[in-house]
Amino acid sequence: MIGNWLDIGPVTQIEPGSARTLPVEGSDEIAVFHTMRGEFYALVNVCPHKQGPLSQGIVHGDAVACPLHNWNISLKTGNVLGEDDGCVPTIPLKVDAGRIYLLREAVLGQTSPAGAD
Ligand code: FES
Repeated sequence: MIGNWLDIGPVTQIEPGSARTLPVEGSDEIAVFHTMRGEFYALVNVCPHKQGPLSQGIVHGDAVACPLHNWNISLKTGNVLGEDDGCVPTIPLKVDAGRIYLLREAVLGQTSPAGAD
């Protein structure tokens, strides 16, 4: 069971209201967010508008405002909120005994195009 989850470290490594990034070999990096409410979410760190780094945005409630053009992205669903349109992949995440885990297959398989090695 635990083999399906990647341990990416303690919850204390991410201050509330901020994010850290996780590089993924051969794929887009992942942003792991800690909200002011104490919840954790993981998204591919690429804004669906023009690839802004979401990890550098402002976290508010369960959303992040992209640092480039201020689109708001739901941390829960990855959907763009408001009148803009788009979606960024989310990565299943769980917190257990003070550590953050990401679903291994979602991390490793998030953007692999068919035919790529
Ligand atoms: S790149 Fe994110 S809002 Fe434009």
